[in-house]
Amino acid sequence: MAANPGVESHDHPGAAPSPTPGSALPRPWHTILKHAALPTLTHDEQARFNVVAAMNRFLAQQLLPRVEAAAGQVVEPALKAELGRPAADRHEYRRGLERELTWRIWSRMRRATMEMRQQAGRLAVLRQLPALVDTCRKLNAGHDHLRLDPSLVPPRYLRALPAHLMPGGYTGELVADDITAGASYEIGIYATLGGQSGPASDRAGRATVTWLEAHRPGWRPRRILDLGCGMGANTLVLARAFPDAEVVAIDAGAPMLRYGAARARALGVDNVRFIQGDIEQPPLSDEAPFDLIVSLMVLHETSRTAVQRIFKASFEHLAAGGLAFHLEQPPYRDKPLLEQCLRDWDGRYNNEAFWSALHDTDLVAAMRQAGFDAGAVRETRADTAAPRPTPDHAKVQEDYGRGGTWYVVTGERQAS
Ligand SMILES: C[S@@+](CC[C@H](N)C(=O)[O-])C[C@H]1O[C@@H](n2cnc3c(N)ncnc32)[C@H](O)[C@@H]1O
Repeated sequence: MAANPGVESHDHPGAAPSPTPGSALPRPWHTILKHAALPTLTHDEQARFNVVAAMNRFLAQQLLPRVEAAAGQVVEPALKAELGRPAADRHEYRRGLERELTWRIWSRMRRATMEMRQQAGRLAVLRQLPALVDTCRKLNAGHDHLRLDPSLVPPRYLRALPAHLMPGGYTGELVADDITAGASYEIGIYATLGGQSGPASDRAGRATVTWLEAHRPGWRPRRILDLGCGMGANTLVLARAFPDAEVVAIDAGAPMLRYGAARARALGVDNVRFIQGDIEQPPLSDEAPFDLIVSLMVLHETSRTAVQRIFKASFEHLAAGGLAFHLEQPPYRDKPLLEQCLRDWDGRYNNEAFWSALHDTDLVAAMRQAGFDAGAVRETRADTAAPRPTPDHAKVQEDYGRGGTWYVVTGERQAS
């Protein structure tokens, strides 16, 4: 892989080195981080995930360039002829794309990778569900690191449309003490990202810590709040980076939290408390303020009103001198229309209902409205690594949002 500086080699052991980035295989599933709560996958179950990862890689590296070529050569001229001018926005542009065969193949196959991932993940978990539930129960027993609220009614946007085609969404429960959503999330996201987020699928957490080291060197937040923690992969990065800190991680999904709490125990991380609640109104009345409050890839799964409330919660629960850090995919402004359509795919075809609107939302204005002083809000970017060596690599790795440099809006609360 020396020919591809900046791209890690994920070839299967024994495979010939890949001469170009386009032919590199994604990390095989067996390279995922192992721990006591992780489902055990048979050969065939792993193979299904490897097919999903390889299909995604094929779509990003082989088919996408053809979509881009067709967009320039066919779609744009056709739109111009039809409209008498170029497409004015991504909505007009997409209508042209959807008539183009290469786009339709790319889009349908991409949808198929998500359907296959969700089915493969769910089947692998259901096959061993009683044993997994038992393992997680035992890992969680006798500790006060998990607080569930059976009376919680999750917000409608979480109940009505299962995000990224995940059956039952984050909150659906199949059996007592269910962990299905958390377990299938962990094994499936690894396949969708082809391991690009690392063995623990925690690149957003690592990007956050990298950002903090660069922008607040030497800072040791003592109390950290993670809003919408999911199964806690990224939470654990923060907990490990600041081992003296007390970390509170909130999510609406009990199956995510049970699995996440057990996973944390299995990985020996004991400074996180997982709490079930609605992050629009986090159940924190008896908690002191927090020095660092994060939300990592959460906002796109909520709603416009919810984002405003989540920002308000991050303002109200922030200690003087503290930092609110909200990480997401970048806004569309200034991006070419084709790229906007490619990035918007999840919003239209992958059950990400608020995705499209979020990318048009002025998050800086929303932070100010939530109470942050105008001068205390800033837009920034976060990633784990140095900028990629060439634009080509950036594109191959980025896959329009699945690879990795994030947009972040931060707010600081002035020391009183
Ligand atoms: C895409 S996942 C991200 C999880 C985690 N931050 C990570 O980086 O892996 C979004 C999570 O936000 C949670 N979530 C969304 N809206 C919420 C709300 N209003 N209250 C609590 N949790 C919420 C979902 O349940 C889900 O687990």
